[in-house]
Amino acid sequence: MRNRPESRVRLEISLNKLKNNFQNICKSVAPCSVLAILKANAYGLGVMDIASALQAAGAAGFGVAEINEALQLKDMGLPVQILGNILPDEIPVAVSNGIICPINDFSAAQTISREAVKQQKTVECHFKIDTGMGRLGMLVHNAYEEILKTVKLPGLKFEGIYSHFPMAYQGGDDYTRNQISSFTTLLKKLEAAGIKFGKIHMANSDAINNFPETCTAPFTHVRTGLNLYGLFDSQGRRSMNLEPVLEIKTRLAAIRKLPAGSTIGYGRTYRLMKDTLIGTIAAGYADGLPLALSNRGYVLIRGHLCPVLGRISMDYTTVSLESVPDAQCGDEVVCIGRQGENAIPAEHWSQLKGTHVYELLCSVGSRVERIYLEE
Ligand SMILES: Cc1ncc(COP(=O)(O)O)c(C=O)c1O
Repeated sequence: MRNRPESRVRLEISLNKLKNNFQNICKSVAPCSVLAILKANAYGLGVMDIASALQAAGAAGFGVAEINEALQLKDMGLPVQILGNILPDEIPVAVSNGIICPINDFSAAQTISREAVKQQKTVECHFKIDTGMGRLGMLVHNAYEEILKTVKLPGLKFEGIYSHFPMAYQGGDDYTRNQISSFTTLLKKLEAAGIKFGKIHMANSDAINNFPETCTAPFTHVRTGLNLYGLFDSQGRRSMNLEPVLEIKTRLAAIRKLPAGSTIGYGRTYRLMKDTLIGTIAAGYADGLPLALSNRGYVLIRGHLCPVLGRISMDYTTVSLESVPDAQCGDEVVCIGRQGENAIPAEHWSQLKGTHVYELLCSVGSRVERIYLEE
């Protein structure tokens, strides 16, 4: 007997599909290498298990947002790179742990350089260039002068340079084209001044799908996060054949016949027109089901689509069982994923919520058990 009952809500992740997706991405972008972007606990999927699977599949390195995420991964033996920025008090530990540091400006570079000299280390650094993201990095138009100044600092190995796209989901978009062109112009100017980089990267998942020129020379690497999970931006083109790796499942907690006229849930937003077989499933917004599914979403029970009735609550959601009169308490309920002939894609939730799938992934609750399948 298990000491602890099974978790009611499970986020099941197929590691084989993850590895297949990774390898398909590698084929699409070859000869570029693939950096797996594992920030925010691998977009909520659980960073250590995802990182191990991707290492086995051949990831060239990992990208994260900040120092603590980097430290989690450093013992795996692959290069770990902070993509965002680094604060002065985070620098000593980054240097002592061999984390690849971003250079967002000259002053950060000076601080990293001083620390590197103090610790008698050489720190791998990548220049972060703002070509139009408007978030972090050296502005592309000033970067040439700043880089010329920065490369003279001791203790730093300027191995890489990169930039990021705000809207590469729109194929053929001029804004993205201009970003690519200002970045490659900068690279040429630097090369003419004798400054070359071994790692040059711009492409995220959207760019891999919509701007193949970011996956060929002079680019050497791509950075992909969302596509690893077989998910895509809802507005972009899908140039790769990837499979969704995750399913969210729960159990049917109660079945009751409620009389016509009953109302369902907080706010009484649904009124039954007739006596109805109602199921209460053991997942709510605390588990990541968006409130926007209230009266609009579906779940799958015994292969049938069951509409959500009333408002999603924290721990439970109420659905109609009219299409599954044989449902039993304890039945598996698929919130995202496939059951029989039917499937509910993650993108369905994002459409209902008016958001993107990144937010949904990062909103899966902490009590949801992450289960890694190696079928
Ligand atoms: C700098 C940077 N590069 C790459 C990525 C990966 O993006 P995606 O998950 O769309 O592939 C991100 C994620 O937001 C990022 O911030």
